[in-house]
Amino acid sequence: MIARLQALEDEFKSELEESSAKDAVLSLKTKYLGRKGLFAALLKEIPTLAPEDRGAAGKAINILKRKIEEELDSRIETISKTERLQELSSESIDVTLPGRIAVSSGRLHPTTMIMDEIEDIFLGLGFDIAEGPELESDYYNFEALNIPKDHPAREMQDTFYIDEEHLLRTHTSPVQIHVMENSPPPLRVIAPGAVYRRDSDVTHTPMFHQVEGFMVDRGVTFADLKGLLTLFLQRLFGKKTPVRFRPSFFPFTEPSAEVDIGCVICRSKDSACRVCKGTGWLEILGSGLIHPRVFESVNYDSTEFTGFAFGLGIERIAMLKYGIDDIRLFYENDLDFLTQF
Ligand code: PHE
Repeated sequence: MIARLQALEDEFKSELEESSAKDAVLSLKTKYLGRKGLFAALLKEIPTLAPEDRGAAGKAINILKRKIEEELDSRIETISKTERLQELSSESIDVTLPGRIAVSSGRLHPTTMIMDEIEDIFLGLGFDIAEGPELESDYYNFEALNIPKDHPAREMQDTFYIDEEHLLRTHTSPVQIHVMENSPPPLRVIAPGAVYRRDSDVTHTPMFHQVEGFMVDRGVTFADLKGLLTLFLQRLFGKKTPVRFRPSFFPFTEPSAEVDIGCVICRSKDSACRVCKGTGWLEILGSGLIHPRVFESVNYDSTEFTGFAFGLGIERIAMLKYGIDDIRLFYENDLDFLTQF
């Protein structure tokens, strides 16, 4: 029996040597260890042996059986590991390869482009940028700007009210109050942002953008306002753009002026121009010297300090610069429109 086991072990070794595929090793396992395998047959022979030999034979068979089992299992494990490694390396993705689909990049919205351009001009003139809340109290949007409750100017701006005391700001002028409450003069500030009015047609959307600007110091005059706004508008629309100031009214400025530029569409030459309606002029912004009542509400001494303020609509500027005739196009998210700029 011992000699047979020795021969069986030798045979197994050479067979294992030749089996490199997983399937071959598995069928070796069946051949030796299966229910009808070689070891099962050997164990069946034990009762036929002489009684005194049975113990030793059984022991020798089981030792070899376990040895073969271990060898087969470790071979199967090695093969599985190699297979897994091969699989991993063949499936790996080279993330450094260029993509096959051209991804088009996003771009800035025309409103943002104009806003950036305006901010650049004023940053270059030493202005700071401030922001204020879009949900305002009646006090900041009206009261502190010298627009009391019964003032007819409240009718000019169709306000979205949240409740008795709160509203969506109708202009960026309340930022003047926030900034002046929190910092002493001298100040040079612009405040861009969204504003809201109950209005919708080709030149009005319920939400649009304004830039507020103001400067406060000792000895600021109307001449400073004229000089700064002329410089700003000529940087924005071109050096030769004519600029004129017309008397106007705002409760928070005195005196007040509306500012016009020569029509950028017809260059003031077409008496039938649809944009300037043949007048040759386009209204661009509201402005004036800050009213002493406004200084009073932020505890500035109006005998010592003076200042000017102005406000303009961004979408209107973008429409004039790019020749767009319907403001609603800005907020329809139509890519054919937006990718032109
Ligand atoms: N707040 C005014 C408006 O929305 C514009 C303005 C700002 C006018 C500052 C004068 C001074 O129409």
